[in-house]
Amino acid sequence: MTNGDTPKDVSRRAFIKGVIAGGAAVASANYLFRASTFLGQSPGAGLGERLIALNVNGQQRRVDVMKQETLAWTLRYKLGLTGTKLGCDRAECGSCTVLVDDVPLYSCSILTHTVRNKKILTIEGLAAADGTLHPVQQGIIDEQGFQCAFCMSGFIMSTVGFLKANPNPTRAELAYGISGNLCRCQDYDKILTSMMRGAENMRRGNGVL
Ligand code: FES
Ligand code: FES
Repeated sequence: MTNGDTPKDVSRRAFIKGVIAGGAAVASANYLFRASTFLGQSPGAGLGERLIALNVNGQQRRVDVMKQETLAWTLRYKLGLTGTKLGCDRAECGSCTVLVDDVPLYSCSILTHTVRNKKILTIEGLAAADGTLHPVQQGIIDEQGFQCAFCMSGFIMSTVGFLKANPNPTRAELAYGISGNLCRCQDYDKILTSMMRGAENMRRGNGVL
């Protein structure tokens, strides 16, 4: 112990270090650097007050969250869920889309603190426990949609969310429903075909077809 730390201070610090080490899967040294200077806030300040629990993909995850931190940042750089992509980071491209209480939202534009009592579903939580793909994911396999696939997880999450409200859309309805997602490869026609196949797969799985 140094600088007058009490045993309680030391054990709390050890606990926090354990949370970060266990939950963070940081992809590169660059991300480590960015995480340490995110919006100018040092990760050392007020850590104890920033520990929250998030319901992600059906699991309670304890995580250290800064007050100005976005959900996309938390998912990718604190919880290691890098299937959620960051494209524009300003609510324009949709690549960061996740479901929050079944509603597709841009995770780059939500503060993590605001979803602490909600159910968050990311692309990693979509397949069944035995590895069986979600019907919408299977639709992409069936139709060979996407080129580079950077935008893919966002499109999938948007489609899954849309189909919860409208499980039997026309092609035009689905196109409109997922129009908040952009594809830099401009593979829109094939993407839409894949998503329509995914909708069909869902209806078949639900015994509607
Ligand atoms: S990264 Fe969130 S909308 Fe583009
Ligand atoms: S397939 Fe490349 S960005 Fe969409």
